[in-house]
Amino acid sequence: MERRIRLKVFRYNPAVDDEPHYDVYEVLYVEGARVLDLLNYVKEHLDSTLAYRWECRAGQCGSCGMMINRKAGLACQTLVSPEDEEVVVEPLPIFPVIRDLVVDVEKGIRRLLKVRPYIHRGSPYKRPEIMYQWEIEEVKPLRECIECWCCVSMCPVVKVAWDVYGGPMVMNSIAKVALDRRNVFDHILLAFLEGLNACTQCAMCKEVCPKEIDIPEKAVGRMRYMAYNKRNLLRPDHKFVVESMRRNYNPLGELAESRGNCLGEWNGLPSLGVPVAKEDAEVLYFLGCMASWREQTVARATAALLKLAGANFTVLGPYERDCGSVLFRINDIEQAQSFALYMKEILKKFKNVNTIVTSCAGCFRTFKVDYPTRLGVELGVEILHSSELFNRYLKEGALNVKEELGLIATYHDPCHLGRHVGVFDPPREVIKAIGVDLREMLNGRYREKSMCCGAGGGVRSGFREVAREVAAYRIRVDVPKDVPMAVHTCPFCYFNFEDAIKVKGYKLANADLTELLAVATMGPEAIKVIGKERCEIIVNLQRA
Ligand code: SF4
Ligand code: SF4
Ligand code: FES
Repeated sequence: MERRIRLKVFRYNPAVDDEPHYDVYEVLYVEGARVLDLLNYVKEHLDSTLAYRWECRAGQCGSCGMMINRKAGLACQTLVSPEDEEVVVEPLPIFPVIRDLVVDVEKGIRRLLKVRPYIHRGSPYKRPEIMYQWEIEEVKPLRECIECWCCVSMCPVVKVAWDVYGGPMVMNSIAKVALDRRNVFDHILLAFLEGLNACTQCAMCKEVCPKEIDIPEKAVGRMRYMAYNKRNLLRPDHKFVVESMRRNYNPLGELAESRGNCLGEWNGLPSLGVPVAKEDAEVLYFLGCMASWREQTVARATAALLKLAGANFTVLGPYERDCGSVLFRINDIEQAQSFALYMKEILKKFKNVNTIVTSCAGCFRTFKVDYPTRLGVELGVEILHSSELFNRYLKEGALNVKEELGLIATYHDPCHLGRHVGVFDPPREVIKAIGVDLREMLNGRYREKSMCCGAGGGVRSGFREVAREVAAYRIRVDVPKDVPMAVHTCPFCYFNFEDAIKVKGYKLANADLTELLAVATMGPEAIKVIGKERCEIIVNLQRA
């Protein structure tokens, strides 16, 4: 049977239109069709005025980059799925529209030329100049770039602060010459001045790149390594972080001995009676720095829920040290290794521990991805984020919902939990189980396409304003207007959202998923765990 597909196309001709609008075309679906095939069909048979760019039709020229169902991609390479009823195509968002899907990329090209993305030679070489295979391998993937601008269009930092940060394509262009041994120019300094440390390492650029270039690791990460280790280039706030990690084992400048104190008597609330360094524990709850010292109610709710579920668990208290996440992002790998080895050593003392549970998406990714892949350190236990463990407990009946919350809320997918590791469903399942009516973020920015909160990659410490502006953008543009609360599963995102709300005066409540779960499972008793103020925010929204 013939099947037709709706192609919804952004239309705008600034010469005659006051406002952009969308035209919808019905196109016959043919198996194997790509978005460019649909556009070409429309152009030839339905509307010859439609403007868009294409040339090679082979994913090589980069000219057909556009937004396809709210994600940047190449029209000539994006397959139309047989399940699609509608495909929406729009121009790349950060450039002015010349007409319909054609944008003016001049600003980007000027930005690119500024960084001199070509090899600068020194004096003429006197003997055969060898490039070794490993050197070629390092730059080869970066040279795959076809300059389609897809990554730049989706970068959260470019969106709010292109003046501060050159963006992924610029970083890639610098890296391909900076890492080339024939080059004599100081491109690392140039990258540093172009905002090398303002990348949140959210990996959205990698997600959309048609050539699958791993810019956060292979370009930004590698250049950060060189900037820090070979050129001693570090922003003052990052110097503080590195120093604090050395002295206090946390990046916040807090006293190492006070880690986990919030689980005792804290802020007028009673002690939770949580076991510290319990030798026969099976579950190790790793608080992380943000839950220990900034969003303490997250730590309290998590520990109280573990108790309620009857878990044989422990915390490390003052023996806990940072996971080292920030050091991986800054690329102080030597120091990061010392944290990984400490964690490995500590686990030897807790022989029954089979699971580490984290509150923070950053700790989760660090244990699960960075330790094994970047350092070869396997902790040898299951690593779970609290949303995964509590989802399991709810399904097994170890935790029971006393009263459904009856709230309306949206959910922010943290990059380290979602796009980096693929944990999308467990938080959503918990949200639904506790009776929260989940409204996904607007503009398709949820799950894989979620946008960073702005705080990752050391940006919160190095570029506070940028981090805040990204969170503010997300609140302003992506949170549905009739939704009064954003749910978080990372205290770092939570903290950054809260900061943007306070500074900008937005009306939006935030809650960590564990705080909501505490209220749903403990009822009024949750006041002793997270305090009156946090409970009232939740209860008042229930009433509303
Ligand atoms: S990792 Fe995120 S912030 Fe960094 S360049 Fe890519 S999209 Fe931009
Ligand atoms: S890095 Fe990838 S997404 Fe970015 S411009 Fe190059 S090919 Fe396109
Ligand atoms: S037409 Fe050349 S990359 Fe799509």
